[in-house]
Amino acid sequence: MSSSPLAARTEAFDSSGIRKVFDLAARLEDPINLSIGQPDFAVPAAVQEAAVDAIRSGRNGYTVTQGIAPLRQRLQERVDQQWGHPDRQVLITSGTSGGLVLAVLALIDPGDEVIVFDPYFVMYEPLVSLAGGRCVMVETYPDFRIDPDKVRAALSEKTKLILCNSPANPTGVVATAEEVRGLAQLAAESGVVLLSDEIYSLFHYDGELVSPAMFNEQTLVLDGFSKSHAITGWRLGYAHGPSEIIEAMTKLQQFTFVCAPQPAQWAGLVALDVDMSAVRDAYRRKRDLLVEGLADNFQIADPGGAFYVFPRAPWGTGSEFVARAIEHNLLIIPGHVFSQRDSHFRLSYAAADEQIERGIEVLNRLAREGP
Ligand SMILES: Cc1ncc(COP(=O)(O)O)c(C=O)c1O
Repeated sequence: MSSSPLAARTEAFDSSGIRKVFDLAARLEDPINLSIGQPDFAVPAAVQEAAVDAIRSGRNGYTVTQGIAPLRQRLQERVDQQWGHPDRQVLITSGTSGGLVLAVLALIDPGDEVIVFDPYFVMYEPLVSLAGGRCVMVETYPDFRIDPDKVRAALSEKTKLILCNSPANPTGVVATAEEVRGLAQLAAESGVVLLSDEIYSLFHYDGELVSPAMFNEQTLVLDGFSKSHAITGWRLGYAHGPSEIIEAMTKLQQFTFVCAPQPAQWAGLVALDVDMSAVRDAYRRKRDLLVEGLADNFQIADPGGAFYVFPRAPWGTGSEFVARAIEHNLLIIPGHVFSQRDSHFRLSYAAADEQIERGIEVLNRLAREGP
């Protein structure tokens, strides 16, 4: 008998990289914090009020697993209007993370392979391992573009799923229509499910955002309210995709998360009518401030969206450079947390301008000083 009570799958969850950064951060006094993956603006007043009203009027119990009918219907109407796919169905999930968990559990059997673009959102790999699957990484350095030919080369008999994310965490890169079309068509030809994580759909700054659902009716799309309405703690997301997959996810939700929090669902209904374009404009400006401020000393792949940039460390490894930044009271995340490489680092500009400006000053100074 093993001496540990823990299941082997717990080993798939190695949070030591990011934990180390937060342990270091805990020791800093008033750090310049460009590490945070959540918006810095206030929750829109109408959304706050809707949640409070829901709580006060007794809407606190379980809802049906698939989500309250008014929110589901509104989202279904939007999705039908946008895509016109006859078999596209909506499910309200407990955050986009909840949607990811359900999707992976619904689609992946032990031994299945999942194509993931490196660098990637931290949750993808442990989730796939949890289901007994294996991630096959497709490198996107140095420009973080999607190359369908590289994906084709990574496909095997065992490939079940391709996970894509645009605008992307941690790079901020937005896939072009051409890249998205190539990927969507390849998935369709190969009979592989394409999951598009569109949590940053509000945050795209240069032109149209193109979803693979435009080219492939079978695409499973995940989105949510965490980032768009600054309610990361409320746990509200949604999925839409082919009914067979959505129904399997619904069954799994029934016996795991049960439902998304009810007050958040009523607030989500109101959130759909709040114009968030001022937030997009403000974050575009923050993006420009950061990118222009670093242009002389850093290589940065064009960050068209989300609220991150992923520069190459100007010297040393990503970890070495980040350790030096932290010594100078600047909190940022080493690239190896999101990647098999340790050459870059992530900055989040979901922060006050004053923090961004102080961060730029420290980064430029460290780059010039060298190791
Ligand atoms: C790419 C990506 N997907 C999903 C999530 C999870 O979002 P949620 O708060 O809706 O669970 C995040 C959060 O950082 C993310 O960056």
